[in-house]
Formats: sequence, C-alpha cells, structure tokens
Amino acid sequence: MRILVIGSGGREDALVWKLSQSPLVSEIFVAPGNGGTASSAKNIDIDAGDIPALVKFARENNIDLVVPGPELPLVLGVCDAMGEAGIACFGPDAFCARLEGSKSFAKEIMAKAGVPTAKSLVFTDVEEALACARAWGAPLVVKADGLAAGKGVVVADTLPEAEAAIREMLAENRFGDAGSTIVLEEKLMGEEVSLLCLCDGETALPLSSAQDHKAAFDKDTGPNTGGMGAYSPAPLLPDSKLEEMTSIVIRPVLAELARQGHPFRGILYAGLMLTADGPKVLEYNVRFGDPECQPLLMRLNNDLAALMQAGASGSLAKQKLAFSPKSALGVVVAAAGYPGSYEKNLPIDGIEKAHAKSGVRVFQAGTASRDGRLFSTGGRVLCVTALGDDLAQAKRLAYEAAEKIDMPGSRYRTDIGDKGLKRLQNS
Ligand code: AMP
Ligand code: GLY
Repeated sequence: MRILVIGSGGREDALVWKLSQSPLVSEIFVAPGNGGTASSAKNIDIDAGDIPALVKFARENNIDLVVPGPELPLVLGVCDAMGEAGIACFGPDAFCARLEGSKSFAKEIMAKAGVPTAKSLVFTDVEEALACARAWGAPLVVKADGLAAGKGVVVADTLPEAEAAIREMLAENRFGDAGSTIVLEEKLMGEEVSLLCLCDGETALPLSSAQDHKAAFDKDTGPNTGGMGAYSPAPLLPDSKLEEMTSIVIRPVLAELARQGHPFRGILYAGLMLTADGPKVLEYNVRFGDPECQPLLMRLNNDLAALMQAGASGSLAKQKLAFSPKSALGVVVAAAGYPGSYEKNLPIDGIEKAHAKSGVRVFQAGTASRDGRLFSTGGRVLCVTALGDDLAQAKRLAYEAAEKIDMPGSRYRTDIGDKGLKRLQNS
C-alpha cells in the first residue's frame, strides 16, 4: 500500500510512525511533513490546504490510501476530491467535516440525533446576541461558528467579558467569516475527557480514552493552546464505559449523517464534559486530536493501515481493536512565548538521549532538519511520549526523557496526567 499522509504536526509524525510498522505499507509520503516524518517517510512540498495539488500528487504517484491529519483539508473537501479521482481516503467528506467546521451545524446535528449537549442559541446580529447574553446572565460561553485555530471559544465568567467577546466576533470581525455567526452556550461544569472512534459510515469502534491539557500553564492556567500534553487511558472514562458512551455521543450522529446521505468515515472525536447530569458534548472534531493521537497510537496494538483501509471501504465491523493495558503519556515541548509570539529556528538537541530510555518516543511537530541538524519551525516543537506500566510510570518516564531535550528557552507543563493520578488515588 502506498500512503499519503497530510499535515505537519506531532500527530502526523505519530501516524507515520505507526503506519510504517505495517507489513501492508510499502511507501509513505507526507505533505508537507516535518523533521520527524522526513526520517521515516518522504516529505513532499505541498501545503495541507492545497487540494488540487494533493489530488494531482496522489494520482501521479499511485497512492492507495490518503490519511488527512488536520481539519482544514477535510473541511475543504479533500476526501470528496480524492473520491472523484478514485483514491481511497480515510476521512469524512466536506459535508460531515462541518461537524468541526461549523459549531452551529454540529448543534443542529446533535439536536436531531438526540445527543446531550449544552443549551445554546445561534446569532448573526450583535444586538440580539447581547440581549440574549443579558437575559441568560454569566457565566456564559461565546463561540465563533467557524474554524478559528482553537481561539474562537471564550468561557466568560462575567457579563462584560461575554459582551466584549460578542462584540469582537460580530461587530469587530476578529475572526473574519469564522466569527460572523456565533453560538452562545451555557457553561457546563465538570471534567473533560476525549472519546475518539474509528468510523466507516456505519460502524463506530471506540479507541481507548484520552485526556488533553489545553491551557498553556500548570493547573490549567493561562491561554488556550492546541494542547500541551495528553495521556491515555483517562481513569475518568475507563474501557468498560466506552461502548455505552459511544452509543450516547457517536452512534446517533453517524445514523443522522447517514440518513442525510453522508455516511461519516474517518475519526469522529467527541470532546466531552462529564457533568453531574451525565455526559455532554462540548465539540466534535473530525480527525485525531494532537497531542491525544500520540499516546493513543503508542497503546494501539492493531495494524493501523489495515484499520484505516477498512474504515475507508466500509468494513470496520470485522475488526477488533486491541489496546495495550499500559498507560501512555505525552508532554509537549514548546517554544518560549507559545501560544503568543515565539522565536523560530532554535537548535534542538537531545532526542537521541531521550530515545535511549526504553518505552520513549519523541514525536516531532514544529521541526525541520538542515545540514543534518534539527531546528524549530513552530510553537509546539516536540511531544515526548512514554509508555509505562501505569500512569505514574508513564509520567515519570516522559518527564525524565523531556529533561534530555535541549532547546533554548523551551518549556513544558509539569503536571500532565496529574488529574488522572489524583482520580486513581481517590478511587
Ligand atoms: P471547544 O472548541 O468547543 O471544545 O471549546 C474549547 C474549550 O472551551 C473546551 O475544551 C472547554 O474547555 C471549553 N468549553 C467549550 N464549551 C464549553 C461549555 N459549554 N462549558 C464549559 N466549557 C466549555
Ligand atoms: N488537542 C485538541 C485538538 O486536537 O483539537
């Protein structure tokens, strides 16, 4: 099988790492890839959002399976375009990708499918939205409808904060078109956990659970980021509960989308808040999370290429997922200043030393190699991931390995996994 992976993050490095272990796979290309994927696959210089160039490359290089990593190419219709070219793609079509690309669309599907979620209303008019916010009162969540690189959600604990967010989005055009429609939502209380499923249009197979850490600093303080670390499994959602949760938050959505003529293929990811009233969906993503993908794939014992091929061709029902009972934990090493402005081109050393520890894998994100040396090209630079007998050991190993990384000004959160450890201690 010849595979084209689309994207350039730590998630894509992990996908390449896992796919390259499959005896079914002969060659892997990555568009555009990073310093990590360059060592185990062939990077090609095509932007992840350039659909015509991706299709042309896939055609000319006899690609058998396309694996899109990030949401942008999915929302832009990469799977539709590959399908028209007769090339299998493990991802949803553009219609289904709106589950992530439009929060109001996701709300509409959830309502039709009967999936529990926060109470919400959709607005395009600033005065109407302000009136609703005043009527509801704080706390309140204001969300830009479209893709806003993880920055389009404001959890406002006071009314003035909510009003400011509404004005920024609807009157001052802060997110452009992505914020010209907004969703106002009640604030949910509880702990967050992620449930990701492999889907083939009809069947949904739940992966083991994972927990992300979105805030920049320890104890969930500071601005939101793409994710500063993740671990799997999350004791909050044990394997014994996966089937039940999938039937509440994933399968009804698959049935509704199929009913509308668009069976969902690929990864459907539910961001959940486990509240006192039961689970509620905060958002859907239509792809693997980054960095959740890294610890999840370290625990997956199946052949990922076979699973994705089955997902793309509608035959997942015959597959059975096998996860290692061990725990995996990934720590994101970021450039100083991230998620604000940060320096690039910083030299990176120590990956070999980190790899010398058993059970450790350093996935690369914002990196490129030049003249045999590795340099940073992004804010999230590495995800140092370790597999341990339990969560405590995975955490210890990942942090021992992260200490070996040498990059000027780099930093990481020191509390990845602590919520899970606390839950285990209390149970
Ligand atoms: P989203 O992109 O919708 O997942 O929102 C990003 C983050 O904002 C989530 O991971 C939550 O931490 C928070 N969030 C979103 N919606 C809500 C809500 N209704 N109540 C509380 N927190 C929320
Ligand atoms: N880590 C969250 C995301 O990938 O959206």
